[in-house]
Amino acid sequence: MIGVFDSGYGGLTIFKYIEKKLSQYDYLYLGDNARAPYGDRSQDLIYQYTKEAIDYLFAQGCDLIVLACNTASSMALRKIQQEHLPKFYPGKRVLGVIRPLAEAVASLPKNRIVAVMGTNSTVESGAYINEFAEVDPSIKVIQQACPLLVPLIENSQEDQPETKIILTQYMQPLREQNPDVVVLGCTHYGFLEDLIKDYFGSEVNVLNSGQVVAAKLADYLERHSELVKKSTNPQRFFLTTGSSEKFDKAAKKFLGRNIESKTINL
Ligand code: DGL
Repeated sequence: MIGVFDSGYGGLTIFKYIEKKLSQYDYLYLGDNARAPYGDRSQDLIYQYTKEAIDYLFAQGCDLIVLACNTASSMALRKIQQEHLPKFYPGKRVLGVIRPLAEAVASLPKNRIVAVMGTNSTVESGAYINEFAEVDPSIKVIQQACPLLVPLIENSQEDQPETKIILTQYMQPLREQNPDVVVLGCTHYGFLEDLIKDYFGSEVNVLNSGQVVAAKLADYLERHSELVKKSTNPQRFFLTTGSSEKFDKAAKKFLGRNIESKTINL
C-alpha cells in the first residue's frame, strides 16, 4: 500500500494525479488537518508532526510514503530519509515533491532562471535552492513566500478581486527578474494557475506538482517494483486528524470527487 501524507487537504491535488496514473495500487491518504497549516511552523515541529504521520502510516501497512506537501518535503524529508528510515524502517521509502519538480525543470529547454512560489517555511528552508544546486547548479533560483494564498484558497476566495491583488504583489518581484519557469511550490497554488499563467505570459512555463510527481513516482515504481505490490482490488482510504465532515467536503474541491474519511489521532 502507498501512503500519501499532507498537512491537510492540499495533498489531494497531488493524489488526484497519482491515483489516476497508478490506479492499480492501494492508497492510504492522511491529512493532518488538526495541526494545519504547516506553512508558518518551525522546522522542529514540522519534522515532529511529519515523523508521527509516517510512523502511523507505516504501522497501517504502507510500504512507501509520498510526502505530498511542499512544506513537509522541505522541512522534514531529508532528516527522515537520513536518520529516521535507516534506524526504524530500513526497507521502506519516503519520497517528496521537491526533487521531482527540480528534475522536471532541469529537463526543460529553457530554465536559466526559475521562480519558486511557496509557503514561508518552504522558502525559508532553502530546499528548492538545495535541490536545484544538486540537479543543475547552472539554474538560478529566485523565491517568493506567499503566505496569504493557502487561507484564501481554503476559504474559496480564488475569484475575489483581493486575491488577484495579493497574488500580483507576490508575483511582481519575480516577474521583474524575468524567470523562464515558475514552480508552484505549494499544493494549493494550482487553483490560481490560470491567473499566474496570464500574469507571466505564454513564454514562461508554469509548472504544477501533481502531474510531475505522479510521472516520477510511476518511473520510480517501475525501477523498484519490489517495494509495493499492485492490488487486484485497489482500495483508497482517507484519514484526517481533523473533522471528517469538513475533510469530505473539501475533498470535493481538492480531489474532485466524493469520499468518506475517518478521523484519527496522531
Ligand atoms: N500543503 C502545504 C504545502 O504544499 C500547504 C498548506 C500548509 O501550509 O500546510 O506547502
